[in-house]
Amino acid sequence: MTNGFKPDQLLYGGDYNPEQWPPEIWREDVRLMQEAGVNFVSLGIFSWAKLQPGPDAAFNFGWLDEVMGLLHAGGIGINLATATASPPPWLFVQFPDARPVTWDGVRLEVGGRQLYCPSHQGFRSAVQTLVRAVAGRYSDHPALRLWHVNNEYGCHISECFCDLCGEQFRVWLRERYGDIATLNAAWGTAFWSQQYGEWAEIQPPRQAPTYANPAQQLDWRRFSSDNLLGLFELEVEVLREITPQVPVTTNFLGFLKNVDYVKWAGREDVVSLDAYPDPADPLGHVEAALQYDLVRSLGGGQRWLLMEQATSAVNWRTRNAPKRPGLMRLDSLQAVAHGASAVMYFQWRASRAGAEKYHSGMLPHVGEKSRTWQEVKALGAELRGLRPLAQMGVPTRVALLFNWENWWALEIDSKPSADLRQMPIVLKYYAALRSLGQSVDLVWPEGDLSGYDAVIVPNAYLLTAGAAGNLRAFVQRGGHLVLGAFSGIVDEHEQIGLGGYPAMLRDVLGAWVEEWLPLAPGATLGVRREDGQETQTRTWAEKLHLSGAQALAHFTGDYLAGGAAISEHAFGQGRAYYLAADFEREDIAWVLRRALLAAGVAVSDLPLELDVGVSSSQDSHVLTLLNFHRTETLHLQLPEGGHELGGAGNVAPRLDLAPLEARFVRYDRPVAPSDVHVVTSELAPV
Ligand code: GAL
Repeated sequence: MTNGFKPDQLLYGGDYNPEQWPPEIWREDVRLMQEAGVNFVSLGIFSWAKLQPGPDAAFNFGWLDEVMGLLHAGGIGINLATATASPPPWLFVQFPDARPVTWDGVRLEVGGRQLYCPSHQGFRSAVQTLVRAVAGRYSDHPALRLWHVNNEYGCHISECFCDLCGEQFRVWLRERYGDIATLNAAWGTAFWSQQYGEWAEIQPPRQAPTYANPAQQLDWRRFSSDNLLGLFELEVEVLREITPQVPVTTNFLGFLKNVDYVKWAGREDVVSLDAYPDPADPLGHVEAALQYDLVRSLGGGQRWLLMEQATSAVNWRTRNAPKRPGLMRLDSLQAVAHGASAVMYFQWRASRAGAEKYHSGMLPHVGEKSRTWQEVKALGAELRGLRPLAQMGVPTRVALLFNWENWWALEIDSKPSADLRQMPIVLKYYAALRSLGQSVDLVWPEGDLSGYDAVIVPNAYLLTAGAAGNLRAFVQRGGHLVLGAFSGIVDEHEQIGLGGYPAMLRDVLGAWVEEWLPLAPGATLGVRREDGQETQTRTWAEKLHLSGAQALAHFTGDYLAGGAAISEHAFGQGRAYYLAADFEREDIAWVLRRALLAAGVAVSDLPLELDVGVSSSQDSHVLTLLNFHRTETLHLQLPEGGHELGGAGNVAPRLDLAPLEARFVRYDRPVAPSDVHVVTSELAPV
């Protein structure tokens, strides 16, 4: 095992795909990389076909030897791919059944990428052979710093419904349940005459006449994520054997629904992320921040790698907006402010051919005279000056609870409302926390909560006894818990807890839910808050009974009128808040403000266009201020005593932050994002 991957400087670079270019370009590439301050590249991600031209052909490493030699001579470190991301066409002539099958029975064809069935033995041994060859060839290469395993597992193919996967599913279920009676009980197969007598009767939840058994669907998600993880581990095993000294990563996609990264992260030496906020979305950076906080938390608070982003437009949205001048820099600095120690792009040189030729690169088609190239060079120089950040952590007192299994369960069909979707709910709560000036960690249901003053749970539809016990103990010990609607409904088998929802937390909340009132599209239900504010909910409302809690808001409409809509309850040394509706961000922020203040956590009122963070080491604390507003200057009041990062100059506490401007201000004492206040701005604080 390695000791992780902790660069002492910020890494800068991108995916490098030299197989798309003739050798003379490689030399120019290295020269230009040096000019831009590139010190790290991800190499060979899609090189399988070039490295192994046929099933019986000898490996073709000559060109890669040359490229790696050039990079090394240029002082550029290599994140070497295992090259397994896109199997070559010949593999499917050899193994036609290694092509994955969709839910409705279609076997996918050659011509794109990421075409593979994770369970196919022929494919798996081809992967092992390739990884063994690449690792063996370059184990001692002086430029090799990190292994890049495959690429974005689950991006295109996260589940395969073929018979081989069906067989693996049954093996997985046997391990989980031991005997068929236990499975029948867990899946509730007494319903609709679904009882199984033999393991062989069980199939993947393929297209069926109507809703497939929900517990079967949930286990299928778990299995599919684990099956991909097995593929990752297949590669990692070979790498650890041949190069135990070289750390390993695979690039995550943030909130990729079908892959439970909590299970994956512990198997890597460093966590890495690909992030593509939409430049056309003025609040795209808020979602990006949530992803950055996710990966930092997945890595246990260690610094992480932004493995891919775009310098400008991507090619895969319906309309692909470019990043206006300055936005690429700001996006990149935001990742650093949230804990990244690498700023990397897809890709170094924009392609001439293929499906991604309209995707931006560090070096655009236009070349050195492009503004993107000028911005790329300027950012490379700037990152060198931000080196102190490469070793700092991101202190937080507030955690947001997230759970992939809950996401899966909530969005399984046949629910009271199809409108309750996991990510929009999570994003609203996260944005509310950011608007209150909070740095946020993500935590998992049965994880350690002891380091936090407040734990925010936007939704925990699926709650295990272990997780409920964890939350209960947190509040008992003095923690402040905020729980969103439709929580604590089912256990890990999608079975409902009886006697009033949420069955396992009724005493903690001092309240319980009797029934749900899903709202029609466009409909609203009035709510009056304790501060006199009239507001409303869309989508969802609940009939909440108080059994010890006090109401902070009441419904004013329909047959819920007069009933509690938000509750607060003292339990043990702490407090628990419950929101019995799918509220908008402003109302969520109102509850969170109250909970945070009760927990002794200071709050501020910040516009979402401002990304404020703090990075800390033992004796240095850096406030990061990024103005994502495209046209407005923000007028800020900072704590006294700030200095320019990397300089001795004082920073006056009254600071104007121009559109798309970033500032890094260093303090000798701890500071928090909530120490920043907007003085006068045309932007209304949230
Ligand atoms: C990523 C992928 C890259 C490239 C990029 C385009 O998902 O890893 O190979 O396709 O998207 O935005």
